[in-house]
Amino acid sequence: MVIVLDFGGQYNQLIARRVRECNVYCEVHPYTLSIDKIKEMNPKGIILTGGPNSVYDEKSPHYDKELFELGIPVLGICYGSQLMAYTLGGKVEPAVVSEYGKTEVLIDKKDSNIFKDVEEKTICWMSHTDFISKAPEGFEVTTHTTSCPIAAMENVSKKLYAVQFHPEVVHSVEGTKMLRNFVIDVCGCSGDWKMDSFVETTIKNLREKIGDGKVLCALSGGVDSSVAAVLLSKAIGKQLTCVFVDQGLLRKNEGDEVEAVFGPKGPYELNFIRVNAQQRFYEKLKGVTEPEQKRKIIGEEFIRVFEEEAKKIGKVDYLVQGTIYPDVIESGLGKSAVIKSHHNVGGLPDYVDFKEIVEPLKMLFKDEVRKAGLELGIPEYLVFRQPFPGPGLGIRIIGEVTEEKVKIVQDADFIYREEIAKAGLDKKISQYYAALTNMRSVGVMGDGRTYDYAVALRAVITSDFMTAEAAPIPFEILSKVADRIVNEVKGVNRVLYDCTSKPPATVEME
Ligand code: XMP
Repeated sequence: MVIVLDFGGQYNQLIARRVRECNVYCEVHPYTLSIDKIKEMNPKGIILTGGPNSVYDEKSPHYDKELFELGIPVLGICYGSQLMAYTLGGKVEPAVVSEYGKTEVLIDKKDSNIFKDVEEKTICWMSHTDFISKAPEGFEVTTHTTSCPIAAMENVSKKLYAVQFHPEVVHSVEGTKMLRNFVIDVCGCSGDWKMDSFVETTIKNLREKIGDGKVLCALSGGVDSSVAAVLLSKAIGKQLTCVFVDQGLLRKNEGDEVEAVFGPKGPYELNFIRVNAQQRFYEKLKGVTEPEQKRKIIGEEFIRVFEEEAKKIGKVDYLVQGTIYPDVIESGLGKSAVIKSHHNVGGLPDYVDFKEIVEPLKMLFKDEVRKAGLELGIPEYLVFRQPFPGPGLGIRIIGEVTEEKVKIVQDADFIYREEIAKAGLDKKISQYYAALTNMRSVGVMGDGRTYDYAVALRAVITSDFMTAEAAPIPFEILSKVADRIVNEVKGVNRVLYDCTSKPPATVEME
């Protein structure tokens, strides 16, 4: 295992992810992790991340010098490299010219382990205002740039390496190669770790941690909570209870699909409770048209239902959440304006009686969670399910939500998804769905006049969902979807395609 010690930089989990891509298991821990704990964990290598501070600031995070004397290979990145230099007697200063962005790095020491098979001139991502102006004794300078005399340094006998740039960022063209050289050649990791090892180790750790405790999981049927639930079920079986609230705002057949996998007829041994709360949600949403109010009602009602179920179960020791790494970053940012009050189905009342929250996926990115899901044997249609908002179809029906409208949007959405999959576009589009507009218009069907709803189709391409482009779906496909929807779904006589990007629009309609 390799430990990444987090000094507060932006790309810290990305380092872990790159290391895992080299088939080496890696965990990120805060820089406050004690030296004793590190010794106990006995990693094959340690990577120190970047961070926003200057090493010479009094309040900046530091680490005991002993870290560099353990005989464990250490790679310092950006702030981590400066920290290594500073702690070991080198000099760090503010740079006259700060470097930011893609920068040409020249390799001075061609036989350096870290730069094996790397081009003599290689593009790396720089982002720093301080620089190492003097390497500590025993270190050799291995690379430079036009404005940074020590872009990398090493002390081979002590197995200490430092790079000023960020090899973990995609813009560092040969960055992954450098990280691989470190973890495989320098640290001696075997490079045979796979997602199934994550699954195995996590199950073992969960079993040890939970013992004979009781665990509760709010299951939404989304990929994250599903993978978390299956991990837990494999670890502790019937000690786990999953509560799945069908609020009547799910996609067509979704409730039954979730039940087929997690319910008593499914392959997992767990306690599964499906709460059919559809009517209760429709009742609360009657007459409500304002989007934020709808979101709040759905969120609150979910909590009420959940509380009632939790009370029946009684005291639980642990609560499972399917938090993944991007959720951790987003909640850390928490200062941006509220565009929409996001309701996460996993968002639970504060006072459910439990000892601790268990978040087995919080180190993983979405695609890694999906890989783990496949390893666990979860069906592909659940693993590759697109993101689906907690308030569900409630925010895909513009205006008042009624049972009749839910049925219309479910049927239209089902057809849309079916055609997109048939066209082989399902894995190319980040998110797509049909929504029911609040607009009715005149049409003609057979020989008669109709006055029915318009369905809007949405499809976006995005990597982070913060910004998104409308997907350029070929017209023939859109046209086929439109034909099928107006012919097969009663109450719809018009289909529109939403071509707006985010911003100024958002992915969802409300
Ligand atoms: P927006 O509409 O904000 O959507 O551009 C961005 C992404 O977030 C999802 N989304 C939600 N997810 N609870 C969730 O769990 C919510 O309340 C919620 N609202 C939007 C949306 O589906 C898209 O993937």
